[in-house]
Amino acid sequence: MQFLIDDARLDRVERALNTFPLIGVTTNPSILKVGGLTDFERDLRTIRELVGDGDLHVQVVARDTEGMLREADTIRELVGESTLIKIPTTAAGLPAMRRLKAQGARVTATAIYSTAQGLLATAAGADYLAPYVNRMYNADVDPYAVIRALRQDIDREGVPTRILAASFKNVKQVTDAAAAGAHTATIGADVLDAMLALPQVESAVDAFAADFQAAFSAPGIA
Ligand code: G3P
Repeated sequence: MQFLIDDARLDRVERALNTFPLIGVTTNPSILKVGGLTDFERDLRTIRELVGDGDLHVQVVARDTEGMLREADTIRELVGESTLIKIPTTAAGLPAMRRLKAQGARVTATAIYSTAQGLLATAAGADYLAPYVNRMYNADVDPYAVIRALRQDIDREGVPTRILAASFKNVKQVTDAAAAGAHTATIGADVLDAMLALPQVESAVDAFAADFQAAFSAPGIA
């Protein structure tokens, strides 16, 4: 599985990029708001600098197809043509996805709460599908059944679309999404940190250091 950070708190993004084997950063308007960002252009450029050549996913806000396409142009001018444009998987979004793909842009189909939406976004040529794991769970939809069905469709069709599972509230949801067949997961900084937060891990490392010191009268390998 590949991992991204689903966060825009700049200090947390920078720390996570330096700690975890991440391939990029995903954002949406709500994440930008929680991140305390106030200047869209400046702050998005800052995130692009942090990500470097990694993937950056940025969401459109317009509700109509033409508006989505205009915003996609603006985003790509601002932070690069390789930026993945997140398009909600709606009746307005599907044509926008197809037209962006025809222009050579990269597209992430987002706000996926059902298998049907994901199948349509794959057919529209999306590079990534973003099923919302925790939000589906809250809506009494089995997110892992959705991910399994989408992965079967992708494999059967032999298309390059990848599943970018999103909306995680705990580590078990991430590992369950991986088992269900998600290729990638985008995870907020707190859940990312929780992936390494077992107290047993630190105890084990402490014990190894103490045993080395006892055996060799030295704190580490010189
Ligand atoms: O990118 C979509 C994802 O961030 C939604 O997450 O935590 O708002 O359910 P959440």
